[in-house]
This record gives sequence, C-alpha cells and structure tokens, in this order.
Amino acid sequence: MTPDTAGAPLRTQAGPFAAADSALAFDLAAGLDRVEERLSAAAAQSERLPHEASHHLMQAGGKRVRPLLVLLAAQLGDGTRDEVIDAAAAVELIHLATLYHDDVMDDAPVRRGAPSAHEVWGNSVAILTGDLLFARASLLSSELGPAAVRLQATTFERLVLGQLAEFTGPAPDEDPVAHYLQVLADKTGSLIAASGEFGLRFSGASEEFIEPLRDYGEKVGVAFQLADDIIDLTSDAATSGKRPGTDLRERVPTLPVLYARRAAAGGDTTAAEVVVRLDGDLTSDVALEEARVALAAHPVTQEARAEARRWADEAIAALEALPEGEVREGLEAFAHQVVERSS
Ligand code: FPP
Ligand code: MG
Repeated sequence: MTPDTAGAPLRTQAGPFAAADSALAFDLAAGLDRVEERLSAAAAQSERLPHEASHHLMQAGGKRVRPLLVLLAAQLGDGTRDEVIDAAAAVELIHLATLYHDDVMDDAPVRRGAPSAHEVWGNSVAILTGDLLFARASLLSSELGPAAVRLQATTFERLVLGQLAEFTGPAPDEDPVAHYLQVLADKTGSLIAASGEFGLRFSGASEEFIEPLRDYGEKVGVAFQLADDIIDLTSDAATSGKRPGTDLRERVPTLPVLYARRAAAGGDTTAAEVVVRLDGDLTSDVALEEARVALAAHPVTQEARAEARRWADEAIAALEALPEGEVREGLEAFAHQVVERSS
C-alpha cells in the first residue's frame, strides 16, 4: 500500500526508520497496524483472567522493536504478505512471554509504565501467562511451517541459556566482561537476529541476505541491551517506564558495574568508592539512589555508552552485503536509534 491508497488513519508509527512522509514509513506503519490486530487476536482467551493477563503488557505499550525489524527486513521481499505479519506477531509474543518471566526473576515492579503482571496477579499467574503467550507464538509459527518452528526453537533455546548464564555468572577463570557480552548476544541478540531472518524468509527475499542480517541483528541486540544498562542508571521512570536502579538492586552485573569493578581493581579510587556503594545494602530507596547517581556520574558509564555505540557501528558495518537504498538506510537508522534512545 502507498500513501495514495491510504484508508483509515494509522494507529501506529514507524519510528525514525524511514523519512516520515516516505512510502516506506507508510508501509511500516500499515504493517505495524496489522501486527497489532494479529497480536491481540493471538492472545485471546475465553476465560477473563487469562485473557486480561495475556493482554496486560501488550496493551501497556512497548516499542515493537522486533516486529519493526521483521517488517523492515521483509521490505527486501514482499512485505505485505500475511506470513510476514504472522512472523512479526510471533516474535513479539515470544518477547512478551520472556518479559512476564523476566519481571518475576528481577522482581521488577513496573514495565512499560504499568505495574508488572506479578504485581497485579502474583508470580504464579505471571509465569503461567508467559507460558500461554509462548504457546500462542508456537501456534503462529506452526502455521508458518517447519522452518519457522525450527527458528523459534533454536532461538528460544539460546535465549533461555543466555538468561541462565546471566544467573550463574562467569566461571572463575572467565573474563566477566566477555561473559556478559555473550549473555547479551544470547538473551537479546538471538531474538533480534531471528526477527530479521523471519522477515526475509517469509517475504520471499533472497536467502543471501540472511547471514548478514542475522549478524546485524545480533550486534544490534547487544547494543540494545547495553543501552538498557545505561537507561537503568540515567533515565527517569516517566521516560523509561521502568524503575531506575532495578538492575543495581537486583545485583545485575551490567557493563557500567563491571567496568567500575575493573577500574577499582586497577587502583581507581573513585571507582572503588562507587563499588563500595554498589556492594552495600541497597534495600532502602535512599541508598539505591545514591549508588545509582554515583555510578551514573562516573566515567565508566560513559565508557559503557561508547561500547554500546561501537556495537551499533559494527552492526551497521554488517549491512555492507545488502543493496543500498531505503531499507538499508532504515536499518542503519534503527541501529542508531537503539543506542540513542532513553526509553
Ligand atoms: C530482559 O532482560 C530479558 C530477556 C531479554 C530474556 C529473558 C529470558 C527469560 C526470562 C526466559 C523466559 C522463558 C520462558 C519460558 C518464557 P533485562 O532484565 O536485562 O531487561 P529489562 O530491563 O527490560 O528487564
Ligand atoms: Mg529485567
């Protein structure tokens, strides 16, 4: 569809991935509208509680980063196909399922500006709702065929193993920063890489683009998650929709934390002071806020930001094999947006 054939006004925006008035921006926004309808229908249940709980997070908002990437990649083939919309809905359902579980594990009180599902219904309902969404994602994939089921299964295994590796932490002889970057590639990069692959496969685009786009997606995923580490430190709840300092309170070894520890071990006394705060009792809101502010103000946070930008630049370099044009430029803008966002 082009702007000339536009019908009803679009509910969703394509974001800064295409010139605002371009045909590409219109196609992406139109695709996202279709994805929203598919998502809502795919999560429908006949009983009130599972229905409400299944729609809770998707209705709270969200950037729809993964569906957008499916749609953008699909522009290299026929992006209007129904299968592309199903694939975009499936990846968002997988992502949503992980968020229900993640918020239980992180004991996160808010997500997307709304109370987390476990705050509303308790841990059991939140976990089971994640499972329900995952079941519905699997149903969509099964309709797309064995290639989709396989891609979903291999991606999900990596994602779960990444989360597990984060939980268990590095081995005694392992570099903590290298371990952490691998965790991010597995728990976030895997699904973002799969999003590009879903978009290419189900739009009928040339398979020669799959590997470069997977490489791009994986690196964008790491950049995205590194940016998240910074947002936890520097963004306010009204902007990010999450409580600042949640990672610190949960003792997540984010990149700024790992850099602070490394600098302190190397003799940096200001970093050592920050580490003392980080290792202190963070149960009170005052102590948490002091630790957050101290780490955010330390140069290690800027170093972590620079590392996020390096991953985004490397992601863009992976696009070399793609044809020049609006889609490649959109993917480049997408990588920049991922690291410069504040929510
Ligand atoms: C966000 O991490 C979490 C993930 C990217 C994936 C976590 C994976 C699981 C919880 C496995 C799910 C399993 C099933 C069966 C659905 P984060 O805490 O760093 O990001 P945040 O700041 O958005 O919370
Ligand atoms: Mg979390």
